[in-house]
Amino acid sequence: MTALLEVRGLRAGYGSATDVLVDIDLTVEEGAAIGVIGANGAGKSSLLKVLAGLLPARSGEIEFQGSRLANESPSARLRRGLVMLPEGHRVIRSLTVEENLRLAAISRWPRGVRSRLDEVLPMVFDLFPVLRERRRQLAGLLSGGEQQMVSIGRALVSNPRLLLLDEPSLGLAPVVIDRIYESLGILRQTGLSLLVVEQNYTRLNDLCDRLHVLRLGKVTLSTGGGIDNDEAIRSAYFGHEEPSAATIRQNTEE
Ligand SMILES: Nc1ncnc2c1ncn2[C@@H]1O[C@H](COP(=O)(O)OP(=O)(O)OP(=O)(O)O)[C@@H](O)[C@H]1O
Ligand SMILES: [Mg+2]
Repeated sequence: MTALLEVRGLRAGYGSATDVLVDIDLTVEEGAAIGVIGANGAGKSSLLKVLAGLLPARSGEIEFQGSRLANESPSARLRRGLVMLPEGHRVIRSLTVEENLRLAAISRWPRGVRSRLDEVLPMVFDLFPVLRERRRQLAGLLSGGEQQMVSIGRALVSNPRLLLLDEPSLGLAPVVIDRIYESLGILRQTGLSLLVVEQNYTRLNDLCDRLHVLRLGKVTLSTGGGIDNDEAIRSAYFGHEEPSAATIRQNTEE
């Protein structure tokens, strides 16, 4: 498979503070789904922000569709099809579902928007039929899961090649998470590439071709295919100094 996104030796951080991302190597092939898991503060959102152009890289290279992204603005990256869904359900609460989707499309297609929207809106509504029913309802009145659907819909109308998703399961009930992940699986089948970050791998394991564990800004483990070694994941996720369950039990019994 051809690489759509290639990240090599990436370092990044905020202000004058130390790096929060250290020597990250990552590849997303055309049509692939790649997952990154890590605890609070591991650097997951920072990684996506660097890719979307919201946080500058301190060193390293990012190539998208074969050309470097070094100086491209967030909107230039968006126009090239690198689309990020930030953490939380980002919708404009005072606009209707349909207005949310139309506004997102305008940022991508300043001209000729209407004709493209006529093609993509039905696609979003087919993926999430509940949004078709609620298209005239204010987005702020929707449930968390429905807002996440609008948020995904907003990303889709901007015609992504690679979707960067920051904890799409955050704050949602398990049944709603299933629905969201089902939709990501459908999108993947249409050829869309995905890079998804989460705090746990339960859902990602089914969706993704590979998973990377991120800890304190470093990739500590990469898997091809499904995860079958929980202990290796645990230690990559928490670090080797993390006490094992047996030690914790022993310590608390003394
Ligand atoms: N705007 C910021 N200014 C300074 N430091 C920041 C900023 N945003 C994040 N950080 C720091 O960067 C590190 C990585 O944070 P990041 O938000 O990328 O983690 P995360 O893996 O997304 O965590 P979470 O699961 O809580 O969302 C943390 O140490 C955090 O304190
Ligand atoms: Mg985060």
